[in-house]
Amino acid sequence: MKPMEILENVYWVGVIDWDERDFHGFEIVRGATYNAYLIIDKKITLVDTVKHKFFPEMIERIKQVIDPSQIDYIISNHVEMDHSGSLVGMKKIAKDATIVCTQKGKYGLCKYFDCGDWEFRVVRTGDEIKIGKRTLMFLEMRMLHWPDNMATYVKEDKLLLSNDAFGQHIASVERFDEEIGVDEAIKWAKIYYANILMPFGNLIKKKLKEIGDLGLQFNMIAPSHGVIWRNPEKIIESYAKWANFENENKVVIVYDTMWKSTAKIAKAIADGAATKAKVRMFHVRRDALSEIMTEILDAKAIAIGSPTMHNTVFPPVAGFLAYMKGLKPKNKIGLAFGSYGWSGGATKEINRVFEELRFEVMEPLEVMYKPTREELEMAYDVGVELGKRASKT
Ligand SMILES: Cc1cc2nc3c(=O)[nH]c(=O)nc-3n(C[C@H](O)[C@H](O)[C@H](O)COP(=O)(O)O)c2cc1C
Repeated sequence: MKPMEILENVYWVGVIDWDERDFHGFEIVRGATYNAYLIIDKKITLVDTVKHKFFPEMIERIKQVIDPSQIDYIISNHVEMDHSGSLVGMKKIAKDATIVCTQKGKYGLCKYFDCGDWEFRVVRTGDEIKIGKRTLMFLEMRMLHWPDNMATYVKEDKLLLSNDAFGQHIASVERFDEEIGVDEAIKWAKIYYANILMPFGNLIKKKLKEIGDLGLQFNMIAPSHGVIWRNPEKIIESYAKWANFENENKVVIVYDTMWKSTAKIAKAIADGAATKAKVRMFHVRRDALSEIMTEILDAKAIAIGSPTMHNTVFPPVAGFLAYMKGLKPKNKIGLAFGSYGWSGGATKEINRVFEELRFEVMEPLEVMYKPTREELEMAYDVGVELGKRASKT
């Protein structure tokens, strides 16, 4: 694929990773892109790089626009290796290029790479570099999602090079939101948000306010993954909604089972809940955790079911609970359920996680061995109650 001129003299020189399906444990069912951008001005500037293995592809793309040894600035918006993995290679070619990053960015880059002879320019929010006709302004994005993150704003174009913020994991030949469909792009951005940014909702709200206070306006947002937003207002609106945990009248049921008793209870709860709310049901080992968390992001009620194994939760459910706990969903109602043989223990563990997450916790539903008809009717009624509570605003 050729470099793509996204604005006059601003080129996409990233790569498309059609094959990756596991991004540090996050299932990416349609691959990914690593977006790097080249700005041709008096000072030639490369914004971010790509994963190490794609360096030759990126350099070929850059060569179709300019001689890469002429690059003056390499902006490193984020230390993580999917963006910094080609820095060493770039510095070997663009020997005099200055690396521009935050203080924490410099620290992180020098932990990952031998940066002994690299020249750095450390920037903070509001700092500017004039590269010719264009002015680059920097915006620290601390903990969105690492301490070093920043974004680069091209003032004259009102272009935000946002790095991971507003990104989506989807490999596509299309480079713009309208080309894959704005709703489709939002769908992929939601999966990304739910699995990477969900814990940082409060910081996102503050950042959106700060952007407003600085009076920054965007004609285009170009993230480091996925398609470029020509409709920035849509994705900003979505981020504001997700950061606020605005919930739908939806019940998400997540379970696992050894001998199907917990599955029977899950289905009875689903039938009951469906009379009052939208229901989504997932099996922990069969469904992608990234999809489950995306549905949880805006669900009012979450029911988690597990059989008891060795006095505690079934290990696959424990893995899911650890993943969910780290992502810190908020403003939810929680119901624990499951089957046990003698001592029980699984629902207690699930409730412990609900309490840590400050969910509104319902009385757990526990059944010894296989549920009887009466117990399934009880599970149905609990489902109705859960659905009712999920549909209350
Ligand atoms: C390896 C194993 C360990 C178990 N450990 C416990 C236990 O410590 N306490 C308990 O109450 N039940 C225990 N059980 C019984 C199960 O919880 C019980 O069979 C339950 O009905 C299984 O639910 P399921 O059909 O949804 O898998 C154990 C079962 C297995 C297979």
